[in-house]
Amino acid sequence: GAAGAAGLALGATGGALVHSAFDDSPAGAAGASGSLASLGATHVAFEGEHQAGITTPLQAKGHVLAFDLAPGAGRKEAAALMRRWSDTARLLMAGKPSSGADSGIALDAGPSSLTITFGFGHSFFERTGLASRRPTALDPLPDFSADRLDPQRSNGDLWVQIGADDGLVAFHALRALQKEAGEAARVRWQMNGFNRSPGATAAPMTARNLMGQIDGTGNPKPAQPDFDKRVFVPAAGPGPAEHAWMGGGSYAVVRRIRMLLDDWDKQSLAQQEQVIGRTKATGAPLTGGTETTKMALDKIGPDGKPVIASNAHARISAPEQNGGAAMLRRPFSFHDGIAADGTPDAGLLFICWQADPLRGFVPVQRKLDRGDALSVFIRHESSGLYAVPPGPRDGEYVGQRLLE
Ligand code: HEM
Repeated sequence: GAAGAAGLALGATGGALVHSAFDDSPAGAAGASGSLASLGATHVAFEGEHQAGITTPLQAKGHVLAFDLAPGAGRKEAAALMRRWSDTARLLMAGKPSSGADSGIALDAGPSSLTITFGFGHSFFERTGLASRRPTALDPLPDFSADRLDPQRSNGDLWVQIGADDGLVAFHALRALQKEAGEAARVRWQMNGFNRSPGATAAPMTARNLMGQIDGTGNPKPAQPDFDKRVFVPAAGPGPAEHAWMGGGSYAVVRRIRMLLDDWDKQSLAQQEQVIGRTKATGAPLTGGTETTKMALDKIGPDGKPVIASNAHARISAPEQNGGAAMLRRPFSFHDGIAADGTPDAGLLFICWQADPLRGFVPVQRKLDRGDALSVFIRHESSGLYAVPPGPRDGEYVGQRLLE
């Protein structure tokens, strides 16, 4: 039957029961689970040095949302909310019902790699009287010329990212957290996304985005010696002591990037590949090799021009072109139906992680903004920057080192 076929497909990918390190590269076997039962049974730890949902393999379903504290709610209410939310995240990520009246939406399912990740926006610190402890890394992002940002769908006091390999498990978590916000905070914006389901491909591979490109190849890998330095705030400073609560944390940049898919689809395959500098089928650089081959950025073609064009997206964004600036991109695709102009309201919920946005997103986006071949096919529609505290210790709530 259908279930058996699904089990077989999932069985083809192999994998471990507990996700530990992020690796969706072709060589890595994470991101998929051994059987239908273990897809549901896979759980991610809530406690740890870092919050879950940063190096966790991409999940099939995602919700990202921001809350604003209610008028009159301050530090005390925020601390109580973070404790409630953390208690619930701890339960749900272990596959247990929430402690109150559980909605039952996830009753029959295992944790399904559920992760719940919490962050604080710039405005959170004024609202809670903690402005003196706001890291400078959280200073507002600069304006970019191509920005078409909707303030209603940008920023916010609190940010929550939910990911799971099952849509009902993800929605269950979303509802539980919304209810628990109670009088303390209300939703400012919410976006829903998806990725490929584990087991959909015969072997695990880097995900594709809605333009059809293999997307994520150039990401820093946990095995690389500078991975932690690029993605996470050092555990014990540098930086002022009042910012020590962020040790082990990370900064998330969140952009809703609309893809102008009707325009994109009018391009020939060759044109599409020029825009990125990689082939569509395999993600290999246009200079040859396989997906993991290094781009030969100096290689000149028979026409005397660089084989990977000077405005190719993968060239402009490469760390070696940006003084080493790098980030871990961990996006979801989105599709919210058809916009008023008749085009798909679809694209990328771009989420990237870095120890400092000024050594990650900002310099790269500045450069992309000045001449990325991809820019005519995309539109940045919202923006957020969030300080994502370290993972909680046993019994601790997320953000406790700031709020207690
Ligand atoms: C690479 C697509 C937006 C930063 C790539 C690649 C693709 C891609 C297909 C090549 C494969 C890979 O290495 O992952 C897109 C699409 C975007 C988008 C469709 C918008 C809808 C952005 C933005 C940034 C960014 C806003 C950051 C400001 C990067 C980086 C790389 C990359 C750092 C890796 C470069 C390397 O290490 O060689 N992107 N991208 N991208 N992109 Fe994007």
